Amino acid sequence: MKKIIALTILSLTFLLACQMKYQSFFPGQVWLDDQNTHINAHGGGFLIHNDNYYWFGEHKIAGEEGNKAQVGVGVYSSKDLYNWKNEGIALEVHDDPNSLLVKGCIIERPKVIYNEKTKKFVMWFHHELKDRGYEAAMTGLAISDNITGPYTYIKSFNPHAGIWPTNYPDSLKSLSADVDSYVRPSPEWKDAVRLGLYLRRDFEKGQMARDMTLFVDDDGKAYHVHSSENNQTLHVAELTDDYMDFSGNYTRVLHGEQNEAPAIFKKDGKYYMFSSGLTGWKPNPGKSAVADHPMGPWTALGNMCIGTEDEMKTTFWSQSTAVIPVIGKKDAFIFVGDRWTPDNPIDGSYIFLPVEFEEQKPVLRWRDNWDLTFFEKN
Ligand code: GAL
Repeated sequence: MKKIIALTILSLTFLLACQMKYQSFFPGQVWLDDQNTHINAHGGGFLIHNDNYYWFGEHKIAGEEGNKAQVGVGVYSSKDLYNWKNEGIALEVHDDPNSLLVKGCIIERPKVIYNEKTKKFVMWFHHELKDRGYEAAMTGLAISDNITGPYTYIKSFNPHAGIWPTNYPDSLKSLSADVDSYVRPSPEWKDAVRLGLYLRRDFEKGQMARDMTLFVDDDGKAYHVHSSENNQTLHVAELTDDYMDFSGNYTRVLHGEQNEAPAIFKKDGKYYMFSSGLTGWKPNPGKSAVADHPMGPWTALGNMCIGTEDEMKTTFWSQSTAVIPVIGKKDAFIFVGDRWTPDNPIDGSYIFLPVEFEEQKPVLRWRDNWDLTFFEKN
């Protein structure tokens, strides 16, 4: 009997030790997973599946080499958004030097969506080729039958070769595409960029696709939104029904406004976007926009951050990466941003902040510590 009691106490103590650790968010602080290691999923994308949250992100290693893909895309799961279980590496880089996905390439901002018809999990990411800096500007595709992987790499490419955006006027199609004839930056260059200078330059070979997000609408249609035209203009591209390709239908949005790090969510039939400006790993003022359709037109709403001058200039020292709709709560959305630490990328941290609505605009305020009851009070 004593043995049984001792065993019960031991297993209860074990259970308590393993029990959920977090009951709230501590934005920007070290965030331990179930293995007591800081979560390693940067430029994250979130998928809700069977009432669980999944967090996919760039798995970084220590040191500057960690800015390149040495391991692949990591994945975590959670039931409550506070406590995350490390589910391992969803997409691994390859050892084969002939693979485009070879170790040392760049994989950024991976996003995963689920296709109801094919029952496949579809991952798209920003892909740069090994030893070629950021010049390839491709989008990559990998798929899996299991949400946590392993994902099989399918292809990478520059989208829309030989296809004009649906909102690009015929009158502009024959203008010059000679980027080098402009002084950069200059007002003339800026005007030409707005009117599609880089779009025309890349028309034959395919468009640039860097920072990206995916958005699946209520009707099951999926959109791939990415920084194109040398990061000057966003492209919103419709995916095919199986989500494994671009349908060819796409628009240019917020022309020449230099948006990166797009994240989209839908509320009351309207589409909202958070994004950043263009300063590499350094933070800059956040931006927001609204539209009646994912393909636009989008109307800029300005900086979504409310706070001190420094907070507003830096998006609370972060760059947007995703917006998570909270399961079971109406109109509850969480902004997710990265605090990049390029000298030692593995140290990068995350900020989760509740999205508030004021005068029909989404806004963010800093909170050192908060939990999901926030959405009940507001
Ligand atoms: C940022 C971008 C990141 C990464 C970085 C590289 O602007 O959002 O995803 O590409 O530049 O400098």
